[in-house]
Amino acid sequence: MIKTILKPFAKFFELQARTHYRVERHSMALTFGIILAAGVGGFVEIAPLFTIDDTVEIDPDMRLYTPLEQAGRDIYIREGCYACHSQMIRTLRDEVERYGPYSLAVESQYDHPMLWGSKRTGPDLARVGEKYSDDWQVRHLVDPRALVPESIMPHYAFLLDAQLETDSLPDRLWALRMVGVPYTDDMIENAAGDAVGQARPDSDRVNGVVERYGQQTAVRTFDGRSDMVTEMDALVAYLQILGRLTDLPQQIQPQPEE
Ligand code: HEC
Repeated sequence: MIKTILKPFAKFFELQARTHYRVERHSMALTFGIILAAGVGGFVEIAPLFTIDDTVEIDPDMRLYTPLEQAGRDIYIREGCYACHSQMIRTLRDEVERYGPYSLAVESQYDHPMLWGSKRTGPDLARVGEKYSDDWQVRHLVDPRALVPESIMPHYAFLLDAQLETDSLPDRLWALRMVGVPYTDDMIENAAGDAVGQARPDSDRVNGVVERYGQQTAVRTFDGRSDMVTEMDALVAYLQILGRLTDLPQQIQPQPEE
Protein backbone atom coordinates (compact mmCIF):
# COMPACT_ATOMS: atom_id res chain seq x y z
CA MET A 1 0.00 0.00 0.00
CA ILE A 2 2.65 2.51 1.11
CA LYS A 3 4.80 1.40 -1.79
CA THR A 4 2.02 2.24 -4.27
CA ILE A 5 1.59 5.67 -2.78
CA LEU A 6 5.30 6.43 -2.83
CA LYS A 7 5.99 4.99 -6.25
CA PRO A 8 5.38 8.17 -8.27
CA PHE A 9 7.89 9.95 -6.02
CA ALA A 10 10.63 7.37 -6.42
CA LYS A 11 12.43 9.32 -9.11
CA PHE A 12 12.32 12.46 -7.05
CA PHE A 13 13.78 10.72 -3.98
CA GLU A 14 16.52 9.23 -6.07
CA LEU A 15 17.43 12.59 -7.56
CA GLN A 16 17.39 14.21 -4.14
CA ALA A 17 19.64 11.51 -2.69
CA ARG A 18 22.09 11.89 -5.52
CA THR A 19 22.29 15.71 -5.29
CA HIS A 20 22.62 15.52 -1.53
CA TYR A 21 25.43 13.02 -1.88
CA ARG A 22 27.22 15.28 -4.33
CA VAL A 23 26.79 18.46 -2.23
CA GLU A 24 28.02 16.71 0.89
CA ARG A 25 31.22 15.75 -0.86
CA HIS A 26 31.92 19.34 -1.92
CA SER A 27 32.76 21.26 1.20
CA MET A 28 32.49 24.66 -0.52
CA ALA A 29 29.03 23.89 -1.89
CA LEU A 30 27.95 22.65 1.52
CA THR A 31 29.31 25.78 3.26
CA PHE A 32 27.54 28.00 0.77
CA GLY A 33 24.31 26.04 1.22
CA ILE A 34 24.49 26.41 5.01
CA ILE A 35 25.14 30.15 4.76
CA LEU A 36 22.22 30.53 2.36
CA ALA A 37 19.83 28.58 4.60
CA ALA A 38 20.91 30.47 7.74
CA GLY A 39 20.70 33.76 5.83
CA VAL A 40 17.08 33.17 4.82
CA GLY A 41 16.21 32.22 8.40
CA GLY A 42 17.95 35.29 9.77
CA PHE A 43 16.27 37.61 7.30
CA VAL A 44 12.82 36.33 8.18
CA GLU A 45 13.53 37.21 11.82
CA ILE A 46 15.10 40.60 11.16
CA ALA A 47 12.78 41.86 8.39
CA PRO A 48 9.92 42.97 10.70
CA LEU A 49 12.34 45.39 12.39
CA PHE A 50 12.58 47.39 9.17
CA THR A 51 8.97 48.43 9.62
CA ILE A 52 9.28 49.19 13.34
CA ASP A 53 8.49 52.87 12.78
CA ASP A 54 5.14 51.95 11.23
CA THR A 55 4.43 49.26 13.81
CA VAL A 56 4.73 51.40 16.93
CA GLU A 57 1.74 53.72 17.11
CA ILE A 58 2.51 57.39 17.64
CA ASP A 59 0.98 59.15 20.60
CA PRO A 60 2.26 62.64 21.30
CA ASP A 61 0.31 62.64 24.60
CA MET A 62 2.12 59.60 25.94
CA ARG A 63 3.15 60.47 29.50
CA LEU A 64 6.50 59.78 31.13
CA TYR A 65 6.93 57.95 34.42
CA THR A 66 7.51 60.48 37.19
CA PRO A 67 10.65 59.86 39.28
CA LEU A 68 8.48 58.31 42.04
CA GLU A 69 6.78 55.95 39.57
CA GLN A 70 10.12 55.09 38.00
CA ALA A 71 11.54 54.32 41.46
CA GLY A 72 8.52 52.07 42.02
CA ARG A 73 9.20 50.34 38.75
CA ASP A 74 12.76 49.63 39.88
CA ILE A 75 11.41 48.14 43.12
CA TYR A 76 8.98 46.00 41.09
CA ILE A 77 11.99 44.68 39.17
CA ARG A 78 14.13 44.28 42.30
CA GLU A 79 11.41 42.24 44.05
CA GLY A 80 10.88 40.04 41.02
CA CYS A 81 7.16 40.77 40.66
CA TYR A 82 7.56 40.07 36.94
CA ALA A 83 8.27 36.42 37.74
CA CYS A 84 4.57 35.97 38.55
CA HIS A 85 2.91 38.87 36.73
CA SER A 86 2.87 39.72 33.03
CA GLN A 87 2.21 43.20 31.70
CA MET A 88 0.92 42.47 28.27
CA ILE A 89 -2.67 41.84 27.32
CA ARG A 90 -2.85 39.75 24.18
CA THR A 91 -5.37 40.25 21.39
CA LEU A 92 -7.38 37.17 22.36
CA ARG A 93 -11.00 37.75 23.23
CA ASP A 94 -10.87 36.15 26.68
CA GLU A 95 -7.94 38.36 27.66
CA VAL A 96 -9.60 41.52 26.39
CA GLU A 97 -12.77 40.65 28.29
CA ARG A 98 -10.86 40.01 31.50
CA TYR A 99 -8.24 42.75 31.45
CA GLY A 100 -9.40 45.42 29.00
CA PRO A 101 -8.08 46.68 25.63
CA TYR A 102 -5.07 44.69 24.41
CA SER A 103 -1.64 46.24 24.91
CA LEU A 104 -0.20 48.49 22.21
CA ALA A 105 3.49 48.79 21.40
CA VAL A 106 3.47 52.51 22.22
CA GLU A 107 2.56 51.72 25.83
CA SER A 108 5.97 50.13 26.34
CA GLN A 109 7.81 52.83 24.41
CA TYR A 110 9.52 54.23 27.50
CA ASP A 111 9.92 50.92 29.34
CA HIS A 112 13.56 49.98 29.83
CA PRO A 113 13.60 47.08 30.30
CA MET A 114 10.13 46.05 29.17
CA LEU A 115 8.23 43.90 31.65
CA TRP A 116 5.87 41.99 29.37
CA GLY A 117 6.74 38.79 31.18
CA SER A 118 6.03 35.25 30.17
CA LYS A 119 4.58 33.83 33.37
CA ARG A 120 1.19 34.43 34.92
CA THR A 121 1.09 32.89 38.35
CA GLY A 122 -0.87 36.02 39.24
CA PRO A 123 -3.07 38.12 36.94
CA ASP A 124 -1.77 40.43 34.20
CA LEU A 125 -1.07 43.89 35.59
CA ALA A 126 -0.92 45.95 32.38
CA ARG A 127 -4.16 47.80 33.29
CA VAL A 128 -4.24 47.44 37.05
CA GLY A 129 -3.82 51.23 37.53
CA GLU A 130 -6.70 52.71 39.57
CA LYS A 131 -8.52 49.35 39.52
CA TYR A 132 -8.17 49.33 43.32
CA SER A 133 -7.67 52.09 45.87
CA ASP A 134 -4.21 52.90 47.24
CA ASP A 135 -5.36 51.49 50.54
CA TRP A 136 -6.29 48.17 48.92
CA GLN A 137 -2.89 47.99 47.19
CA VAL A 138 -1.00 48.69 50.41
CA ARG A 139 -3.01 46.19 52.45
CA HIS A 140 -2.66 43.59 49.71
CA LEU A 141 1.11 44.01 49.55
CA VAL A 142 1.38 43.92 53.36
CA ASP A 143 -0.73 40.77 53.63
CA PRO A 144 -2.23 39.37 50.41
CA ARG A 145 -4.22 36.70 52.26
CA ALA A 146 -6.04 39.28 54.35
CA LEU A 147 -7.83 40.39 51.17
CA VAL A 148 -7.68 37.32 48.95
CA PRO A 149 -7.74 34.29 51.27
CA GLU A 150 -6.62 31.81 48.60
CA SER A 151 -3.73 33.99 47.40
CA ILE A 152 -0.25 32.51 47.07
CA MET A 153 1.43 35.88 46.60
CA PRO A 154 4.32 36.60 49.00
CA HIS A 155 3.92 39.56 51.36
CA TYR A 156 6.00 42.72 51.12
CA ALA A 157 5.23 44.43 54.43
CA PHE A 158 8.84 45.62 54.83
CA LEU A 159 8.35 48.13 52.00
CA LEU A 160 6.20 50.16 54.37
CA ASP A 161 9.19 50.76 56.67
CA ALA A 162 11.87 51.19 54.03
CA GLN A 163 12.69 54.82 53.31
CA LEU A 164 12.85 55.50 49.59
CA GLU A 165 16.36 56.19 48.35
CA THR A 166 16.08 59.22 46.04
CA ASP A 167 19.70 60.40 45.64
CA SER A 168 20.33 58.20 42.62
CA LEU A 169 17.16 59.25 40.79
CA PRO A 170 18.77 62.01 38.65
CA ASP A 171 21.34 59.48 37.40
CA ARG A 172 18.64 56.90 36.75
CA LEU A 173 16.59 59.38 34.70
CA TRP A 174 19.70 60.46 32.87
CA ALA A 175 20.47 56.83 31.97
CA LEU A 176 16.92 56.45 30.64
CA ARG A 177 17.36 59.56 28.53
CA MET A 178 20.45 57.95 27.00
CA VAL A 179 18.23 55.15 25.67
CA GLY A 180 15.55 57.45 24.31
CA VAL A 181 13.16 58.53 27.07
CA PRO A 182 12.67 62.30 26.58
CA TYR A 183 13.39 63.50 30.14
CA THR A 184 14.40 67.18 30.13
CA ASP A 185 17.35 68.68 32.03
CA ASP A 186 14.82 70.25 34.38
CA MET A 187 13.25 66.86 35.14
CA ILE A 188 16.62 65.23 35.73
CA GLU A 189 17.85 68.01 37.99
CA ASN A 190 14.73 67.95 40.15
CA ALA A 191 14.17 64.19 40.17
CA ALA A 192 14.89 63.61 43.85
CA GLY A 193 12.72 66.52 45.00
CA ASP A 194 9.89 65.59 42.63
CA ALA A 195 9.81 62.03 43.97
CA VAL A 196 9.27 63.35 47.48
CA GLY A 197 6.85 66.05 46.30
CA GLN A 198 4.55 63.60 44.54
CA ALA A 199 4.01 61.67 47.76
CA ARG A 200 3.57 64.86 49.84
CA PRO A 201 0.40 66.63 48.71
CA ASP A 202 0.78 69.43 51.26
CA SER A 203 4.41 70.35 50.53
CA ASP A 204 5.40 73.18 48.18
CA ARG A 205 7.34 70.75 45.95
CA VAL A 206 4.06 69.56 44.46
CA ASN A 207 3.77 72.46 42.02
CA GLY A 208 7.02 71.54 40.31
CA VAL A 209 5.91 67.92 39.85
CA VAL A 210 2.62 68.87 38.20
CA GLU A 211 4.34 71.52 36.08
CA ARG A 212 6.90 69.04 34.79
CA TYR A 213 4.78 65.91 34.45
CA GLY A 214 1.30 67.24 33.68
CA GLN A 215 -1.99 67.98 35.38
CA GLN A 216 -2.98 64.32 35.48
CA THR A 217 -0.08 63.38 37.76
CA ALA A 218 -1.44 61.67 40.86
CA VAL A 219 -0.13 63.58 43.87
CA ARG A 220 -0.99 61.92 47.18
CA THR A 221 0.32 59.97 50.13
CA PHE A 222 0.09 56.57 48.52
CA ASP A 223 0.93 54.47 51.57
CA GLY A 224 -0.97 56.50 54.15
CA ARG A 225 2.23 57.34 56.07
CA SER A 226 2.91 61.06 56.21
CA ASP A 227 6.14 60.85 58.24
CA MET A 228 8.35 59.52 55.44
CA VAL A 229 8.36 58.63 51.76
CA THR A 230 8.68 54.87 51.61
CA GLU A 231 9.34 52.23 48.99
CA MET A 232 5.66 51.35 49.37
CA ASP A 233 4.76 54.88 48.18
CA ALA A 234 6.85 54.37 45.06
CA LEU A 235 5.58 50.87 44.29
CA VAL A 236 1.92 51.83 44.71
CA ALA A 237 2.42 55.01 42.62
CA TYR A 238 3.81 52.75 39.91
CA LEU A 239 1.00 50.19 40.12
CA GLN A 240 -1.58 53.00 39.91
CA ILE A 241 -0.11 54.39 36.66
CA LEU A 242 -0.05 51.00 34.88
CA GLY A 243 -2.14 51.24 31.72
CA ARG A 244 -2.73 54.95 32.23
CA LEU A 245 0.19 56.59 30.45
CA THR A 246 -1.95 56.97 27.33
CA ASP A 247 -5.63 56.43 26.49
CA LEU A 248 -4.90 55.42 22.90
CA PRO A 249 -5.89 51.75 23.45
CA GLN A 250 -9.34 52.77 24.73
CA GLN A 251 -9.75 55.14 21.79
CA ILE A 252 -8.93 52.70 19.02
CA GLN A 253 -10.39 49.50 20.46
CA PRO A 254 -14.13 49.23 20.83
CA GLN A 255 -14.93 47.12 23.88
CA PRO A 256 -16.67 43.77 23.23
CA GLU A 257 -20.31 43.69 24.32
CA GLU A 258 -21.06 42.53 27.83
C1 HEC B 1 4.68 33.90 43.70
C2 HEC B 1 4.03 34.69 42.69
C3 HEC B 1 3.79 36.18 42.93
C4 HEC B 1 4.71 37.17 43.13
C5 HEC B 1 6.22 37.04 43.25
C6 HEC B 1 3.97 38.41 43.17
N1 HEC B 1 2.64 38.15 43.00
FE1 HEC B 1 1.16 39.55 42.88
N2 HEC B 1 -0.24 38.08 42.72
C7 HEC B 1 0.03 36.73 42.69
C8 HEC B 1 -1.24 36.01 42.67
C9 HEC B 1 -1.38 34.49 42.64
C10 HEC B 1 -2.26 36.97 42.67
C11 HEC B 1 -3.80 36.71 42.66
C12 HEC B 1 -4.31 36.58 44.09
C13 HEC B 1 -4.25 37.88 44.83
O1 HEC B 1 -4.91 38.86 44.44
O2 HEC B 1 -3.50 37.95 45.82
C14 HEC B 1 -1.60 38.26 42.71
C15 HEC B 1 -2.27 39.48 42.67
C16 HEC B 1 -1.66 40.72 42.56
C17 HEC B 1 -2.36 41.97 42.36
C18 HEC B 1 -3.86 42.16 42.17
C19 HEC B 1 -4.18 42.04 40.69
C20 HEC B 1 -5.64 42.08 40.35
O3 HEC B 1 -5.95 42.53 39.24
O4 HEC B 1 -6.46 41.65 41.19
C21 HEC B 1 -1.41 42.96 42.34
C22 HEC B 1 -1.63 44.44 42.13
C23 HEC B 1 -0.12 42.32 42.54
N3 HEC B 1 -0.31 40.96 42.67
C24 HEC B 1 1.07 42.98 42.62
C25 HEC B 1 2.30 42.35 42.86
C26 HEC B 1 3.53 43.09 43.08
C27 HEC B 1 3.69 44.59 43.03
C28 HEC B 1 4.50 42.15 43.31
C29 HEC B 1 5.96 42.38 43.66
C30 HEC B 1 6.22 43.25 44.79
C31 HEC B 1 3.87 40.85 43.22
N4 HEC B 1 2.54 41.01 42.97
C32 HEC B 1 4.54 39.65 43.37
C33 HEC B 1 1.28 36.15 42.67
C34 HEC B 1 2.48 36.80 42.86
